[in-house]
Parts: sequence; structure tokens; C-alpha cells
Amino acid sequence: MRKIYVHPLPVRIWHWINAFGFVALIVTGVQIRYVDLIGLMSFKAAVSVHNAIGFILIGNFFVWFLFYLFSDKIKVYHPELSPVKYFRGSFRQLQYYGYGIFKGDPNPHHVSAYHKFNPLQSMTYQIIMLLLVPLQFVTGVVLWDLGHFAGAVEWFGGVRVVATVHVLLFIFFTGFIFIHPYLASLAHTPGAHFKAMFTGYEEVEGTPQEERPGA
Ligand code: HEM
Repeated sequence: MRKIYVHPLPVRIWHWINAFGFVALIVTGVQIRYVDLIGLMSFKAAVSVHNAIGFILIGNFFVWFLFYLFSDKIKVYHPELSPVKYFRGSFRQLQYYGYGIFKGDPNPHHVSAYHKFNPLQSMTYQIIMLLLVPLQFVTGVVLWDLGHFAGAVEWFGGVRVVATVHVLLFIFFTGFIFIHPYLASLAHTPGAHFKAMFTGYEEVEGTPQEERPGA
């Protein structure tokens, strides 16, 4: 086993603040929506905590976004693959997670410094970070001050639409909080990817010569 540096410090800081923040947003969000379901705090306190964490995570998002925008690490999200190879790779990865892994097949993806993600991860992380997370933030900010953002409310089609989008995304992220760590646990040891998200270093097998570009 040798170690390669895959998660730079800004990404690690962003990730763990984001992960804990999302869990806190889900808990306080449920407390706001179902006042009597969890007795963690008062409705008013839940709203204040939810808003504060929401704004912290919006600021935190830009750590991730600006880091990738201004560093060559953006390449990890844009492997030099044709769209056909990209979708074929995603399908191969899905087959592995749904079937191959249970009969002991090797992971079709091989991590290297600029290929830390398989095509499926790369695609889902981009949809989440560039579409779903920003949409959750925008709808959250609009709901935070409906009067101030009356124009945006109208553009969306009414408060009900804004609230529904916010709640549907909440349901998605609640599922994601379980599925994402499960998939992240499918390494040579269950904790390997988690450790890497703390230390920055991923443990990989083989020699550098065996790193396959585009793999
Ligand atoms: C319980 C909470 C979470 C845990 C344990 C966790 C774990 C991990 C781990 C181990 C990785 C390393 C790469 C991988 O294996 O896929 C990772 C990457 C990533 N996670 Fe999470 N995660 C959590 C919550 C979240 C949330 C809430 C989001 C977004 C809403 C998120 C978005 C991402 C993204 C975008 C990456 C790739 C980061 C990069 O650009 O390098 N994670 N996560």
C-alpha cells in the first residue's frame, strides 16, 4: 500500500463543516416542521439555529467552490473521458455496487491524484454541488425573508412552490446522508475513505506506474 494525497485541506475543512451542518439542518428542520415530534428545543430556537447554520453553510460552500474554481484540482471533476466512456464508466460502477461487490469483484475504479472519483461519483457530486445544494440554499434564503424576496417568490410560482422544493430537497439530502457514507465505506477497509477525508491521504495498491489515466 502507498499513500497519495487526494483531499486538499480546504476541501476537507469544507466537507466536515458541511456534513455536520447538514445533519443539524435536518434535525432542526424536522423540529420546525413537526413541532411536537422532537422536543430538542423550542420552535423559536429551532428557527434561529436552522437559519444561522444555513448561512454558515452558504459561506462554507464558497470554500469548496472557489477552491476548485481557482486550482488545477478541478481536473478531478473533469476526467479526460468522452461522454460515452463517462456513461459507460458510471454504468460499470453501478453494476459493481449493485452486484459485482457481492461476489468479490475488484472495484473497476483505480484512484490516482487526478482521478480520485469514479465517473458515478464525479457526476453525482457535480449535480449535488452545482444544482441541488445551491437550490436548497436559495429556497432557504427566500423562505427566511419572504417579504424581502417577494419578487423571487413570484418567479418561483408562490410560497408553496418554494417550500415544496425546499422540503423535496430535504427528503433527498436525508436519504443522501445515509447512502453517501454507505458507498464511502466500500473501500479496502470500511473506514479507509473516511480516514482519507480527515488526513487527505488515500491508501492505494500498486506502484505509480500502474496508475491508469482515465481509469
Ligand atoms: C454523515 C455525513 C457524511 C459523511 C460521513 C461523508 C463522507 C464522505 C467521504 C468519506 C468522502 C470521500 C470521497 C468518497 O468516498 O466519496 C466524501 C466526499 C464528498 N462528500 Fe461527503 N460525507 C457526508 C456528508 C456529505 C454531505 C451532507 C454532502 C453534501 C451535501 C457531501 C458531499 C460530498 C462531496 C461533494 C464529496 C466530494 C468532495 C470533493 O470535492 O473532493 N457529503 N464524503
